[in-house]
Amino acid sequence: MKGVILAGGYGTRLSPLTKVTNKHLLPVYDKPMIYYPLENLVNAGISDIALVTGPEHAGDFIELLENGEEFGVNINYTVQKKAGGIAQALGLTRKFVGSDNCAVILGDNIFEDSFNDSINNFKSGAHIFLKQVEDPERFGVANLNENKVISIEEKPKKPKTNWAVTGCYLYDNEVFEIVKKLKPSGRGELEITDVNNYYIKKGVMTYTKLDGYWTDAGTVESLYRASTLVRTKKR
Ligand code: DAU
Repeated sequence: MKGVILAGGYGTRLSPLTKVTNKHLLPVYDKPMIYYPLENLVNAGISDIALVTGPEHAGDFIELLENGEEFGVNINYTVQKKAGGIAQALGLTRKFVGSDNCAVILGDNIFEDSFNDSINNFKSGAHIFLKQVEDPERFGVANLNENKVISIEEKPKKPKTNWAVTGCYLYDNEVFEIVKKLKPSGRGELEITDVNNYYIKKGVMTYTKLDGYWTDAGTVESLYRASTLVRTKKR
Protein backbone atom coordinates (compact mmCIF):
# COMPACT_ATOMS: atom_id res chain seq x y z
CA MET A 1 0.00 0.00 0.00
CA LYS A 2 1.36 3.40 -1.01
CA GLY A 3 0.37 6.62 0.77
CA VAL A 4 -0.80 9.84 -0.87
CA ILE A 5 -1.20 13.20 0.92
CA LEU A 6 -3.05 15.91 -0.98
CA ALA A 7 -1.87 19.37 0.03
CA GLY A 8 -2.59 21.53 -3.02
CA GLY A 9 -5.33 24.13 -3.41
CA TYR A 10 -5.26 27.83 -2.52
CA GLY A 11 -6.67 27.83 1.00
CA THR A 12 -8.83 30.83 0.11
CA ARG A 13 -11.21 30.17 2.98
CA LEU A 14 -8.31 30.95 5.33
CA SER A 15 -7.28 34.22 3.69
CA PRO A 16 -5.27 36.29 4.72
CA LEU A 17 -3.53 33.49 6.70
CA THR A 18 -2.74 31.82 3.38
CA LYS A 19 -1.62 34.94 1.50
CA VAL A 20 2.09 34.08 1.73
CA THR A 21 2.05 30.40 2.70
CA ASN A 22 0.25 27.14 2.07
CA LYS A 23 -2.66 26.18 4.34
CA HIS A 24 -1.01 22.88 5.31
CA LEU A 25 2.03 24.65 6.75
CA LEU A 26 -0.08 26.62 9.27
CA PRO A 27 0.04 25.46 12.90
CA VAL A 28 -2.49 23.11 14.42
CA TYR A 29 -1.71 23.50 18.14
CA ASP A 30 1.99 22.55 18.35
CA LYS A 31 2.76 21.19 14.88
CA PRO A 32 2.40 22.20 11.23
CA MET A 33 -0.94 20.91 9.88
CA ILE A 34 0.78 18.59 7.38
CA TYR A 35 2.36 16.56 10.22
CA TYR A 36 -1.03 15.15 11.21
CA PRO A 37 -1.99 13.36 7.97
CA LEU A 38 1.65 12.34 7.53
CA GLU A 39 1.71 10.77 11.00
CA ASN A 40 -1.60 8.99 10.28
CA LEU A 41 0.03 7.22 7.33
CA VAL A 42 3.34 6.61 9.13
CA ASN A 43 1.52 5.11 12.15
CA ALA A 44 -0.40 2.79 9.82
CA GLY A 45 2.92 1.35 8.63
CA ILE A 46 3.05 3.04 5.20
CA SER A 47 6.61 3.75 4.15
CA ASP A 48 6.30 5.23 0.64
CA ILE A 49 4.34 8.46 0.52
CA ALA A 50 3.63 10.96 -2.26
CA LEU A 51 2.86 14.54 -1.27
CA VAL A 52 1.00 16.61 -3.87
CA THR A 53 1.09 20.39 -3.59
CA GLY A 54 1.00 23.50 -5.76
CA PRO A 55 4.15 25.06 -7.24
CA GLU A 56 3.97 28.22 -5.08
CA HIS A 57 5.19 26.69 -1.81
CA ALA A 58 6.50 23.26 -2.81
CA GLY A 59 10.00 24.28 -1.66
CA ASP A 60 8.73 24.99 1.85
CA PHE A 61 7.36 21.43 2.15
CA ILE A 62 10.72 20.02 1.03
CA GLU A 63 12.51 22.21 3.56
CA LEU A 64 10.17 21.08 6.33
CA LEU A 65 9.85 17.35 5.60
CA GLU A 66 12.95 16.69 3.46
CA ASN A 67 12.98 13.07 2.23
CA GLY A 68 10.98 11.86 5.21
CA GLU A 69 13.90 10.41 7.25
CA GLU A 70 12.71 12.14 10.41
CA PHE A 71 9.50 10.12 10.13
CA GLY A 72 11.19 6.91 8.99
CA VAL A 73 9.54 7.05 5.55
CA ASN A 74 10.30 8.00 1.98
CA ILE A 75 8.50 11.13 0.71
CA ASN A 76 8.12 11.82 -2.99
CA TYR A 77 6.92 15.26 -4.18
CA THR A 78 4.46 15.89 -7.02
CA VAL A 79 3.37 19.32 -8.24
CA GLN A 80 -0.24 20.11 -9.14
CA LYS A 81 0.00 23.20 -11.35
CA LYS A 82 -3.56 24.42 -10.69
CA ALA A 83 -6.14 23.34 -8.15
CA GLY A 84 -8.25 21.16 -10.42
CA GLY A 85 -9.74 19.10 -7.61
CA ILE A 86 -8.89 16.34 -5.18
CA ALA A 87 -9.35 13.59 -7.78
CA GLN A 88 -7.11 15.43 -10.24
CA ALA A 89 -4.39 15.73 -7.58
CA LEU A 90 -4.68 12.01 -6.87
CA GLY A 91 -4.41 11.22 -10.61
CA LEU A 92 -0.96 12.86 -10.66
CA THR A 93 0.42 10.13 -8.39
CA ARG A 94 -0.36 7.31 -10.82
CA LYS A 95 3.27 6.54 -11.69
CA PHE A 96 4.35 6.72 -8.07
CA VAL A 97 1.63 4.29 -6.94
CA GLY A 98 2.45 1.91 -9.82
CA SER A 99 0.38 -1.26 -9.52
CA ASP A 100 -0.21 -0.95 -5.74
CA ASN A 101 -3.27 0.05 -3.73
CA CYS A 102 -3.23 3.50 -2.16
CA ALA A 103 -4.28 5.20 1.07
CA VAL A 104 -5.19 8.80 0.27
CA ILE A 105 -5.47 11.48 2.96
CA LEU A 106 -6.38 15.15 2.65
CA GLY A 107 -3.71 17.45 4.05
CA ASP A 108 -6.20 19.49 6.08
CA ASN A 109 -7.91 16.59 7.88
CA ILE A 110 -7.11 15.93 11.55
CA PHE A 111 -8.00 12.44 12.77
CA GLU A 112 -7.77 10.92 16.23
CA ASP A 113 -8.44 7.36 15.03
CA SER A 114 -5.78 5.00 13.75
CA PHE A 115 -6.14 3.59 10.22
CA ASN A 116 -3.90 0.63 10.97
CA ASP A 117 -6.53 -2.15 10.90
CA SER A 118 -8.45 -0.82 7.91
CA ILE A 119 -5.27 -0.40 5.89
CA ASN A 120 -3.94 -3.81 6.83
CA ASN A 121 -7.25 -5.53 6.00
CA PHE A 122 -7.85 -3.67 2.72
CA LYS A 123 -7.71 -5.88 -0.37
CA SER A 124 -9.68 -4.30 -3.24
CA GLY A 125 -12.48 -1.88 -4.17
CA ALA A 126 -12.67 1.24 -2.00
CA HIS A 127 -13.04 2.04 1.69
CA ILE A 128 -14.18 5.33 3.30
CA PHE A 129 -14.40 6.64 6.87
CA LEU A 130 -17.59 8.29 8.14
CA LYS A 131 -18.19 10.62 11.05
CA GLN A 132 -21.42 12.17 12.37
CA VAL A 133 -21.24 15.97 12.26
CA GLU A 134 -23.48 18.93 13.04
CA ASP A 135 -22.81 20.70 9.72
CA PRO A 136 -23.00 17.96 7.05
CA GLU A 137 -23.74 20.49 4.27
CA ARG A 138 -20.00 21.41 4.36
CA PHE A 139 -18.91 17.91 3.31
CA GLY A 140 -19.52 14.89 1.15
CA VAL A 141 -22.51 13.21 2.85
CA ALA A 142 -23.18 9.46 2.83
CA ASN A 143 -26.72 8.20 2.29
CA LEU A 144 -27.02 4.94 4.22
CA ASN A 145 -29.55 2.16 3.80
CA GLU A 146 -29.29 -0.36 6.64
CA ASN A 147 -25.57 -1.11 6.60
CA LYS A 148 -24.74 0.03 3.07
CA VAL A 149 -23.62 3.35 1.63
CA ILE A 150 -25.99 3.81 -1.32
CA SER A 151 -24.67 7.16 -2.54
CA ILE A 152 -22.62 10.20 -1.57
CA GLU A 153 -23.72 13.77 -2.21
CA GLU A 154 -21.10 16.53 -2.32
CA LYS A 155 -22.11 19.46 -0.09
CA PRO A 156 -25.88 18.92 -0.38
CA LYS A 157 -28.14 21.87 0.56
CA LYS A 158 -30.46 19.44 2.35
CA PRO A 159 -28.34 16.54 3.63
CA LYS A 160 -30.24 13.24 4.01
CA THR A 161 -27.99 12.16 6.90
CA ASN A 162 -25.37 13.73 9.12
CA TRP A 163 -22.68 11.19 8.18
CA ALA A 164 -19.79 13.16 6.66
CA VAL A 165 -17.34 11.39 4.37
CA THR A 166 -14.00 12.25 5.91
CA GLY A 167 -10.82 12.90 3.97
CA CYS A 168 -9.20 9.47 4.10
CA TYR A 169 -9.85 6.96 1.32
CA LEU A 170 -8.45 3.53 0.48
CA TYR A 171 -8.49 2.56 -3.20
CA ASP A 172 -7.39 -0.29 -5.38
CA ASN A 173 -5.45 0.47 -8.53
CA GLU A 174 -8.58 0.92 -10.66
CA VAL A 175 -8.90 4.40 -9.12
CA PHE A 176 -6.54 5.81 -11.74
CA GLU A 177 -8.73 4.57 -14.61
CA ILE A 178 -11.78 6.07 -12.89
CA VAL A 179 -10.08 9.45 -12.45
CA LYS A 180 -9.18 9.50 -16.16
CA LYS A 181 -12.87 9.27 -17.09
CA LEU A 182 -14.13 12.02 -14.74
CA LYS A 183 -15.66 15.26 -15.99
CA PRO A 184 -15.26 18.53 -14.01
CA SER A 185 -18.11 19.34 -11.64
CA GLY A 186 -20.07 22.60 -11.44
CA ARG A 187 -17.20 24.13 -9.44
CA GLY A 188 -14.76 23.11 -12.20
CA GLU A 189 -13.03 20.35 -10.20
CA LEU A 190 -12.55 16.60 -10.58
CA GLU A 191 -14.46 15.44 -7.52
CA ILE A 192 -13.42 12.63 -5.20
CA THR A 193 -17.14 12.11 -4.52
CA ASP A 194 -17.60 11.06 -8.18
CA VAL A 195 -14.81 8.50 -7.72
CA ASN A 196 -16.51 7.17 -4.58
CA ASN A 197 -19.93 6.99 -6.26
CA TYR A 198 -18.36 4.90 -9.04
CA TYR A 199 -17.16 2.33 -6.49
CA ILE A 200 -20.57 2.41 -4.74
CA LYS A 201 -22.38 1.67 -8.04
CA LYS A 202 -19.98 -1.19 -8.67
CA GLY A 203 -20.90 -2.61 -5.24
CA VAL A 204 -17.36 -2.63 -3.88
CA MET A 205 -17.45 0.25 -1.38
CA THR A 206 -17.01 -0.51 2.32
CA TYR A 207 -16.80 1.90 5.24
CA THR A 208 -15.81 2.39 8.87
CA LYS A 209 -17.53 4.69 11.35
CA LEU A 210 -14.85 6.64 13.24
CA ASP A 211 -14.92 6.67 17.06
CA GLY A 212 -12.44 9.47 17.75
CA TYR A 213 -12.60 13.15 16.92
CA TRP A 214 -12.28 14.34 13.34
CA THR A 215 -12.22 17.78 11.80
CA ASP A 216 -11.01 19.52 8.70
CA ALA A 217 -8.92 22.64 9.27
CA GLY A 218 -9.75 24.56 6.11
CA THR A 219 -11.78 27.41 7.59
CA VAL A 220 -10.92 29.83 10.37
CA GLU A 221 -13.42 28.16 12.69
CA SER A 222 -12.35 24.59 11.90
CA LEU A 223 -8.64 25.47 12.14
CA TYR A 224 -9.28 26.86 15.62
CA ARG A 225 -11.36 23.78 16.49
CA ALA A 226 -8.57 21.48 15.27
CA SER A 227 -6.05 23.14 17.60
CA THR A 228 -8.48 22.90 20.51
CA LEU A 229 -9.19 19.20 19.91
CA VAL A 230 -5.50 18.34 19.70
CA ARG A 231 -4.70 20.45 22.77
CA THR A 232 -7.48 18.94 24.89
CA LYS A 233 -6.39 15.41 23.98
CA LYS A 234 -2.71 16.17 24.74
CA ARG A 235 -3.41 17.70 28.12
O1 DAU B 1 -12.71 17.31 4.57
C1 DAU B 1 -13.47 16.33 3.96
C2 DAU B 1 -14.12 16.85 2.69
O2 DAU B 1 -13.06 17.22 1.78
C3 DAU B 1 -15.03 15.80 2.07
O3 DAU B 1 -16.17 15.55 2.89
C4 DAU B 1 -15.54 16.27 0.69
O4 DAU B 1 -16.28 15.24 0.08
C5 DAU B 1 -14.34 16.62 -0.20
O5 DAU B 1 -14.77 17.14 -1.45
C6 DAU B 1 -13.45 17.67 0.48
O6 DAU B 1 -14.19 18.87 0.59
P1 DAU B 1 -13.56 20.34 0.61
O7 DAU B 1 -14.31 21.22 -0.32
O8 DAU B 1 -13.49 20.77 2.03
O9 DAU B 1 -12.11 20.13 0.04
P2 DAU B 1 -10.98 21.23 -0.18
O10 DAU B 1 -11.18 21.94 -1.48
O11 DAU B 1 -10.83 22.06 1.07
O12 DAU B 1 -9.69 20.31 -0.32
C7 DAU B 1 -9.33 19.42 0.72
C8 DAU B 1 -7.84 19.11 0.60
O13 DAU B 1 -7.55 18.56 -0.69
C9 DAU B 1 -6.97 20.34 0.75
O14 DAU B 1 -6.46 20.33 2.06
C10 DAU B 1 -5.91 20.22 -0.28
C11 DAU B 1 -6.35 19.10 -1.22
N1 DAU B 1 -6.56 19.57 -2.61
C12 DAU B 1 -7.72 20.21 -2.93
C13 DAU B 1 -7.94 20.65 -4.22
C14 DAU B 1 -9.22 21.35 -4.61
C15 DAU B 1 -5.56 19.38 -3.55
O15 DAU B 1 -4.49 18.79 -3.23
N2 DAU B 1 -5.78 19.82 -4.83
C16 DAU B 1 -6.93 20.45 -5.23
O16 DAU B 1 -7.05 20.82 -6.42
